[in-house]
Parts: sequence; C-alpha cells; structure tokens
Amino acid sequence: MDWDSLEQSCRACRRCSLADTRTNVVFGVGNPQAEVMFIGEGPGEQEDLTGEPFVGRAGKLLDDMLSIVDLDRKSNIYIANIVKCRPPGNRDPLNVEQDACIDYLRAQTALIRPKIIVCLGRVAAMRIIREDFKITKEHGQWFQRGGVWMMAMLHPAALLRDPRRKPDAFMDLKTLQVKIREVCQHTYAGQAGAE
Ligand code: URA
Repeated sequence: MDWDSLEQSCRACRRCSLADTRTNVVFGVGNPQAEVMFIGEGPGEQEDLTGEPFVGRAGKLLDDMLSIVDLDRKSNIYIANIVKCRPPGNRDPLNVEQDACIDYLRAQTALIRPKIIVCLGRVAAMRIIREDFKITKEHGQWFQRGGVWMMAMLHPAALLRDPRRKPDAFMDLKTLQVKIREVCQHTYAGQAGAE
C-alpha cells in the first residue's frame, strides 16, 4: 500500500470504539522519508481537535527538546502514535484499542523504514520494545531489532509533571544525537551546527 492510500484508510477507520468519540484521526506528522521516527502513545485533547500529534503543552516541550539536537517535526523526523484516535479523558489506550490500531503504525514504519525509533513514554516502549519495559530504569538504553535501533525517552508530559527528570531527558537526547551521527546519512545533512 502507498502512503496516501494508507492515510486515507486510516482516516476512515472504524476498527474500534475510539472512532465514535474522536474529532479527528491523528495520523502523524513529519517527513515520511525520515531516518528517525518518534512514537507516542495517543492523541490528547488538542491533538484530537487539530489532527496533529503533540501540539499541546507536552508537544511544545517536545519541540523544544528536539531543537536541542537539531531535529524538527517538519523536516527531518516523523512523529506518530500507537493509537490514532483520542482515548476519552486521556486515559491510557486499552490493549484492544492498541491491537485494532497497530497495523497502521506497522504500515507507516514499513514505508518509512526508519533507522532509529524513539518511543516517547512507557506505553509506546511496552508496545514497541518489550512488554515488560521499565521506563524509569531503561530509558536512554539502545535495543536493536531487525536492523533498527530503538530507545525510549521519558514522555514530555511526565517531564512537565516532574521537571526534576529533565536532566535525564537531556542525556537521552544527547545519546540519540550520537546514534544519529553514527547510523543516519541525511538527518543532519546540510544543517549548520550539526557537526
Ligand atoms: N501524547 C502522546 O503520546 N501523543 C500525542 O500526540 C500527544 C500527547
């Protein structure tokens, strides 16, 4: 399936009951040719209203964090979520909702073919890296599967709740920057100050 048909079918999806309460499907944002993919949990209220991932307060913090390591949602990364529709009241997406939605993320990943996947928070890490992933202990560590490097960072919403964890996130970003320089060809190409 090509990118446009995938996006169209996702936007029309009614595979789970989140379809009944959503305003917009939040398919993803960024460059589908990116070498680095970020995966969050699911849309919140602002994302549901606008149709774009990470646009609320946590999204603003994410953009600030990304800019520290010369990453930008519009040019050199792609951002998607485990579930594309907002769980009511911002609860964690249920397993049955994740199961219904995960094929869209799989298809996005298959088309993008990222070299690096960064999971934002516990829910994404438990789905993508390992079912019993411990975010507090294992954030910033690299895992490799099928030739793809993966790591998890603390979710920006968790950093807003507990700013004392920001130095951890900063270290994880620096680790990511090193890995990008190691395995990516064009993520930093042509960016002043990237080297
Ligand atoms: N939190 C997420 O995990 N994803 C979003 O898109 C917004 C907030």
